[in-house]
Amino acid sequence: MKPETEIDRRREEFPTLASGIHLLSHSLGPVPRAARESIVAYYDAWEHHTSEDAWATSWWEMSAHVGDRIARILGGEPGSVQIQPNASIALSTVASCFEFAESERNKIVTTELDFPSMQYIWDAQSRLGATIEVVHSDDGIVVPAERIADAIDDGTCLVALSHVSFRSSYRVDVEPIVERARHHGALVLLDVYQSAGALQLQAKDWDVDFLIGGTIKWLCGGPACGYLYVRPDLQPEIQPRLTGWVAHAAPFEFSQPPMRYDSSVRRFAQGTPSIPALYSVLPGLQIIEEVGVTTIQAESQRRTEWLIKFALNHGWTVNSPRNVEQRGASVMIGVDDGPDMVRRLGERKVFVDCRPGVGLRMSPHFFNTDEEVQQAMEILAELM
Ligand SMILES: Cc1ncc(COP(=O)(O)O)c(C=O)c1O
Repeated sequence: MKPETEIDRRREEFPTLASGIHLLSHSLGPVPRAARESIVAYYDAWEHHTSEDAWATSWWEMSAHVGDRIARILGGEPGSVQIQPNASIALSTVASCFEFAESERNKIVTTELDFPSMQYIWDAQSRLGATIEVVHSDDGIVVPAERIADAIDDGTCLVALSHVSFRSSYRVDVEPIVERARHHGALVLLDVYQSAGALQLQAKDWDVDFLIGGTIKWLCGGPACGYLYVRPDLQPEIQPRLTGWVAHAAPFEFSQPPMRYDSSVRRFAQGTPSIPALYSVLPGLQIIEEVGVTTIQAESQRRTEWLIKFALNHGWTVNSPRNVEQRGASVMIGVDDGPDMVRRLGERKVFVDCRPGVGLRMSPHFFNTDEEVQQAMEILAELM
């Protein structure tokens, strides 16, 4: 591996790192030490709520505050992100904006490499008149861009894909997809759960319509805080059926229907925000902002290149794209018995997981040292 670059890995701020080699940022990141203080601050605000109204002093504004910080990481403008309970609800909120039965334009294009929620949620929309086209992957690692493009036609209302696949770490090339979708009058949604916080994202420059994701992986937040980005000029045009009183323009009037959606991104909220989740997210967001996603991406690319080279030199199967431009921040390595290898690595204090068909998922983040990454692979070589 090239020599370790000069970056502050903030290791002392993640107590879990003392327990072994944490390569699980695609799943649940290690807790920042400051999250304890943040959760205690939540408790204190709750305890003192009768003397100092927690909603008025901070809780009510917190979703917008955290949303704007996430928007910056996504490359979007302030006012473009509404916090959601999780990524699945964020996606369901978007799904509920379409009137599939009443339109000829009712096709959703998605792929086999997307997270199961994507499939389940779209499949459920077929009951409301949606047509779902799931673009096939021949090798379970990539979906050819031309195949996605070919699936987009004048009947397509939305192209909904993972920016980076949870299964293989395959990263789609966003711009040609947006261009093709625009040509046919379709909208584009990207699931950026596996890229936000690890790769630089450009919501505004890409001109995508929706991004969904959550904070527990590369953004070092606690379970669970999801988010939904909606292109600012699209926001006033759509009205989710999955809604609630917090999305109302005047929620404290508690008025009778019809629903009057707020003019801000809050129109995509539902009910009472998950306040503890918001507190749990703050320390991780601050660390990510301070380390900087540009630095994190460069580190990630340097180490995933090294992981792949090591694996290939040992004759192992790499189930992630070799081309760095087509890859996220994880590397998948084929093994005969994934769960057994995860267990054996865990016994040696190397923490990874596995998925059917692709084997081990290994994810160095900025807090891992080069030495740790090397040691993890040497232990894997012993166990293979
Ligand atoms: C790419 C991707 N999308 C969605 C999800 C699910 O998110 P949630 O549990 O917040 O609905 C995951 C979780 O692993 C994921 O990796």
